[in-house]
Amino acid sequence: MVDASDFPILSRKVNGKRLVYLDNAATTQKPQTVIDAMNTYYTNSNANVHRAVHTLAGEATDGYEACRTSLKSWFNAERVVMTSGTTEAINLVAHGWGRANLREGDAVVLTEMEHHSDIVPWQMLSKERGVELRYVPVLDDMTLDMEAYEASLPGAKLVCVVHTSNVLGVRNPVEHIIEQAHAAGARVLLDAAQGAPHTRIDVTELEVDFLAVSAHKMLGPTGIGCLTVKEEAFAEMAPFMGGGDMIDQVTVEGSTYQDNEHKFEAGTPRIAEAIGWKAAMDYLENVDLEAEHHRLLHIARWTAAALRDLGCTVYGRHDDLDSAVVSFLHPDLHAEDMAHLLDAQGFAVRTGHHCAQPLLHRLGISSTVRASFYLYNTMEEAEGLVEALTAVLERFGGSA
Ligand SMILES: Cc1ncc(COP(=O)(O)O)c(C=O)c1O
Repeated sequence: MVDASDFPILSRKVNGKRLVYLDNAATTQKPQTVIDAMNTYYTNSNANVHRAVHTLAGEATDGYEACRTSLKSWFNAERVVMTSGTTEAINLVAHGWGRANLREGDAVVLTEMEHHSDIVPWQMLSKERGVELRYVPVLDDMTLDMEAYEASLPGAKLVCVVHTSNVLGVRNPVEHIIEQAHAAGARVLLDAAQGAPHTRIDVTELEVDFLAVSAHKMLGPTGIGCLTVKEEAFAEMAPFMGGGDMIDQVTVEGSTYQDNEHKFEAGTPRIAEAIGWKAAMDYLENVDLEAEHHRLLHIARWTAAALRDLGCTVYGRHDDLDSAVVSFLHPDLHAEDMAHLLDAQGFAVRTGHHCAQPLLHRLGISSTVRASFYLYNTMEEAEGLVEALTAVLERFGGSA
């Protein structure tokens, strides 16, 4: 477990109670080192990158590129394109790779478990290009229907799958998914917004073509993420945003582009955010993510069992590789009301469709309450949540 005092926000009070932050699947809190790194950059080194020879520009460029170097090593990636987050990374695949490689009649395989950011860009492309979208169903045990997946592969050019569900915490069998997709001649995009914060993902070992990640879900700042790209897929991509920094030469007749990742990073990039993300990765380097995974999963399993005892339905299975997300509903209390009542006790949980409406539709519900745990959360906090919920249900829960 990390030291909660590294995270200044965790010492604040909410509604007069100590904050218990359990909305980590939405975004994580930032250690002081991340805040300091960004502050120091703005205080001492603020300048634009790649464009000037003065000292500050050199420091800004070094800081920005150091983040890419860290990401390449963290994910063992050949190419890392900086984006504004997972959403932009997926849109970059849709526009930068999809438009260059997909034609009418080609198929893209998605799943019912995807976040909207891995559905809507493909629906847009489908409308524009006549690309067929095939959705792999979710079974009653909340796993993907792997037989249907296999059947969806003939003729598919791309498979887009969420590594770990933000609603269920279910970790999909990505190794198997990638192997089968490649055997069928399809490239694979993994949405690792939820997977990357909880486990080290080696994209070279996985042989995954594209991996999309957000910094803010792994202790880094908002506004930055990345797309890792395998070299041969990188060669198939064309830039979709034009502007400064991504060009080699520009004349009035036309332009040529850089041949490295800058080709996909038009305009002034997120310099302070990259510096903050690098600091977050430095922090995470000192965390035993595997041990944390076991600790947090234990907390999630305990919480899920306690919630079931309180009459809640818990959506998720908390298998060994799943992440510590507990989505639940109580028959007598509306999700929003429950979240408000918990907030009054200092507990920050999420409610709603979690940007996964097709999945919730499949489950026959329109929202859940979601408690999601991360490195600074403790068993005592989970016990506090269950205690608070017991009190709420005793007071407002009708039959509970
Ligand atoms: C599974 C998954 N994919 C994609 C996203 C989108 O991430 P961002 O909003 O940082 O682009 C999220 C965010 O909640 C997510 O949980």
